[in-house]
Amino acid sequence: SRQWRGLIEEYRDRLPVGPTTPVVTLREGGTPLVHAQEVSARTGCEVHLKVEGANPTGSFKDRGMTMAISKAKEEGAKAVICASTGNTSASAAAYAVRAGMVCAVLVPQGKIALGKMGQALVHGARILQVEGNFDDCLTLARGLSEKYPVSLVNSVNPARIEGQKTAAFEVVDMLGDAPDIHVLPVGNAGNITAYWRGYREYAADGPASRTPRMWGYQASGAAPIVRGEPVKDPTTIATAIRIGNPASWEQAERARDESGGLIDEVTDRQILAAYRLLAAREGVFVEPASAASVAGLLKAAEAGAVEPGQRIVCTVTGNGLKDPDWAVAGAPQPVVVPVDADAAAERLGLA
Ligand code: F0G
Repeated sequence: SRQWRGLIEEYRDRLPVGPTTPVVTLREGGTPLVHAQEVSARTGCEVHLKVEGANPTGSFKDRGMTMAISKAKEEGAKAVICASTGNTSASAAAYAVRAGMVCAVLVPQGKIALGKMGQALVHGARILQVEGNFDDCLTLARGLSEKYPVSLVNSVNPARIEGQKTAAFEVVDMLGDAPDIHVLPVGNAGNITAYWRGYREYAADGPASRTPRMWGYQASGAAPIVRGEPVKDPTTIATAIRIGNPASWEQAERARDESGGLIDEVTDRQILAAYRLLAAREGVFVEPASAASVAGLLKAAEAGAVEPGQRIVCTVTGNGLKDPDWAVAGAPQPVVVPVDADAAAERLGLA
């Protein structure tokens, strides 16, 4: 048997790489598709989770980053830059290490999860905390990449979308065809754009007989596409998707409309309920933003908008270890016991 080679080698013929492109990889992709027992029971559907937290740096961003950094290296770049709510910066920092490049990251001050900041730091990125939100960071990063010799690796970089579309290929390769519905969290809207491209390509070229309906969910306090206008001061506990003016706005609307899908919102309360359900009932620990997909599906099902019997895939985008504060918050403190079997048994309810 052989190890998964990373998505560039696994899907080379479907990606814009040539024989001389230097492949910068941590063997990303090939993530588990896990049957969701509880969510299936609650919806009457066959629901699967695409567990993207299993990627090397703990989020789906690695799919785009292996492509973006490989292409940047091919073009001779010595430095890359990104704006980020945390995961993009963690991923860019790691892949820049492998490519021998400098990585600069711009993050909204005080608004990224500690685990993600730790990743960028330990991988040696040059980090600026910007006195603004993600949208301000992206404006700055774009400006810097236009004026200075540094390559932008946000999802406005087409190589990022190319890499991320492979997640749709994997779903079809595993299920044998496209699902009826694919559900995603939406922030900067790159990922829903990428999945839609992947599904369309597979349907056009044969591996799939059809495309799914694309369902995207924004956090209520950061739902510009739902509102139909940019949100100036986006707020949500799901910091990864705290974005008021998504770069791929139009592409996300196209994915929605061409697929016969929808883009709706979920409240922070709904996000946290789904976050806890995934951990406690499915055994899958995700970060809060990732739970927006499942929160959205459950919201739709409760409203009677999900016909039973369908096959549905929810992408859960990032690992719960990124942002463990929400796992600990509100949970009872574990009790302290002496080194004594009887005392331990009693406190565990075994005695
Ligand atoms: N889920 C997680 C965990 C994310 O980190 C992001 C985006 C999304 C969902 C939304 O994906 O932007 O393609 O619609 N994080 C970016 C970042 C913005 O900087 O890490 P999207």
